[in-house]
Amino acid sequence: MKWLHKDLLDVSQLSHAEVMAIFETAGRFQELQERPVKKVPTLKGRSVVLFFAEPSTRTKTSFDVAGKRLSADTFSLAKSSSSLQKGETLKDTALTLQAMAPDAIVIRHWCSGAARFLADRLDCSIINAGDGRHAHPTQALLDSLTLHQEWGDMAGKTILILGDIAHSRVARSNVILLNKLGAKVRLCGPRTLLPPAVKHWQAEVYSDLTEACKGVDAVMCLRLQLERQHDGLLPDLREYARTYGLGPRHIDVANPEVKILHPGPINRGIEISSALADCTDSLILDQVSSGVVVRMALLFLYMTRKGDE
Ligand code: CP
Repeated sequence: MKWLHKDLLDVSQLSHAEVMAIFETAGRFQELQERPVKKVPTLKGRSVVLFFAEPSTRTKTSFDVAGKRLSADTFSLAKSSSSLQKGETLKDTALTLQAMAPDAIVIRHWCSGAARFLADRLDCSIINAGDGRHAHPTQALLDSLTLHQEWGDMAGKTILILGDIAHSRVARSNVILLNKLGAKVRLCGPRTLLPPAVKHWQAEVYSDLTEACKGVDAVMCLRLQLERQHDGLLPDLREYARTYGLGPRHIDVANPEVKILHPGPINRGIEISSALADCTDSLILDQVSSGVVVRMALLFLYMTRKGDE
């Protein structure tokens, strides 16, 4: 497929066929992960900046690994060690990076719209690695790839997204992508952690966790994002864990082959019990492996694209 997009801002930009092309490309890179030498020269001579203004373990490391396995040069910029600390604006930081002529910039930023802001101003490809509460398209793609590798077709499957939906860019991107792939989406969380716009999302909303789990094929737990909660949205963590923490009793009412996902990092004992995070039906570490090959596929497609959007 001729890849026409310059930037990846959210999964809403992608057609079903383009998502399948990303999965197919990721599948080809999967085979490389099983070889003793995991590096190929595909992106030799190209460069990618990893601009992470918020903390990250999985996304940043897997983009770095992905770039290096394709022989691209990867350069990291973190908020703590950048001139953002001295008050430089996002625009000046972006133009400074552009002047060094990278082929792509992967950006994570606390502001919704930061990736779009760069995409509108820079010539190189911008890949959104999470912007505020808005979107986390590469996470949604790796989540769906993980399920696609388990099930094949996702049509007719029911997936529950559980927890802090209000602050979750992962939930927003996943609702869009799972629907695009034909799955049914349920959402469950306390009312204070559901955004008002949820009534417009293509998803069934539940307040009772046991009801929400009935018959589901997968549960995707979300991290309780305490760093984004400033308004006393929860009475206390123990109460939250008791009411909305996923445990074995909830899984008893799900499909017997239910899969457990979590984008990480996990607050064990709060949004999910350790028994479930570590159980044989947990795909949490498969998600991390999928992250490497999805990001290899994205770097390959966006950095070797032939046309303009
Ligand atoms: N899932 C996710 O984005 O994890 P990191 O914050 O560790 O990158």
